[in-house]
Amino acid sequence: MAERRTVMSDSVELVEVELAERSYTVSIGQGLLGRMEELLARPYWRRVAVVTDDRVGPLYGATVVSRLKGAGLETFVLEIPSGEPSKTADRAVEIVESLIDSGLTRSDAVFALGGGVVGDLAGFASSVFKRGIDLVQVPTSLLAQVDSSVGGKTAVNVPAAKNQVGTFHQPVAVICDITTLGTLPEQEFRAGLAEVAKYSVLTSRPWGRDLAGEAASLERADAPRLVRLVKECVREKAALVSADEFDHGVRHHLNYGHTLGHALEAEGGYGELYSHGEGVAIGMVFAALVSEAMGLAEPGLADRHRRLLADLALPTAPAGQVPEYGALAGRMALDKKSTGDTVMVLLESEGKPVVKRGIDSGLMEDCYARLIS
Ligand SMILES: NC(=O)c1ccc[n+]([C@@H]2O[C@H](COP(=O)([O-])OP(=O)(O)OC[C@H]3O[C@@H](n4cnc5c(N)ncnc54)[C@H](O)[C@@H]3O)[C@@H](O)[C@H]2O)c1
Ligand SMILES: [Zn+2]
Repeated sequence: MAERRTVMSDSVELVEVELAERSYTVSIGQGLLGRMEELLARPYWRRVAVVTDDRVGPLYGATVVSRLKGAGLETFVLEIPSGEPSKTADRAVEIVESLIDSGLTRSDAVFALGGGVVGDLAGFASSVFKRGIDLVQVPTSLLAQVDSSVGGKTAVNVPAAKNQVGTFHQPVAVICDITTLGTLPEQEFRAGLAEVAKYSVLTSRPWGRDLAGEAASLERADAPRLVRLVKECVREKAALVSADEFDHGVRHHLNYGHTLGHALEAEGGYGELYSHGEGVAIGMVFAALVSEAMGLAEPGLADRHRRLLADLALPTAPAGQVPEYGALAGRMALDKKSTGDTVMVLLESEGKPVVKRGIDSGLMEDCYARLIS
């Protein structure tokens, strides 16, 4: 596994994503948007297109544009409507057309300022425009800071399914300004915490155990603590991406909790019943129950997950209109990580993930019954 370097510099935490000639730095700290030009050194850029959405743009667009213009860059803003429906191929083509109209060349750059939707869409457009130009991720949601902005996966949705069209296009830099999380809607903040919880049970590093003990006291206003948490999550993701950039092996571990999570999200109409984070939280408890039922994990894993997630104010079981197992099983079989049989990331214990194929369907149904009981 590639070595990771984490250093402290002027109160900015730096995490390297080691990918040979495509390596890059993730900068994490407070107030970074107001000094972003210091964190970037690309002397060949002349023009920059800032892709953002109509919620994040009005909040942070002016700061970013003024710093980039101050650094002598001709800067354009492209604003899309916020939300998942914007993540389409048509919208990506519109962005590419705007890049052409703005006169960007292969020596210029796209900045993705926003959550994972902007990051995936702008990432995709930047990867196909002139066969790929520099991309800087400036994630403003917790989910995007700990997950989607790092690792180079880009995507748009097609009517049949989410994220089925995409590329691998690593950013040249990622800038996580924790201060932006102050304006993030509460439900979106919780969604990000589900991914934080996921990393904490996938790792054997001390911060994961510490989170379990201190989750109930986590406050959004505690920026220094959030800087540390985002840094730890980015380190975990960077390690998996460095070891398996194209997702043929250990990068699958990031899918922990997502097998049932995606099925719940889809069955609930994408956000109407379960947000991505809620699905992942419930899916983690389900994966722990399956791990226990298969004899991989000692009893107690699922209960520890429940305590951690409840302390983070996340759900641990479907509530209200509980989906039928049959409908979820069909969706789980369609999961994009599946190669025909049911594939799940399971845990032998915290910090010891394993990928299992061909899991007995009766066992999974029993575990679902225990999850909802
Ligand atoms: N590429 C990857 O590796 C990867 C990994 C995980 C998820 N994703 C993708 O990420 C997307 C989800 O990302 P998301 O949860 O950030 O959703 P999102 O981009 O829709 O952001 C959530 C909402 O919060 C708003 N918002 C974002 N930052 C804000 C801020 N600082 N202040 C106020 N409002 C703010 C957005 O406008 C939006 O309305 C999905 O499309 C998912 O498929 C990609
Ligand atoms: Zn996720």
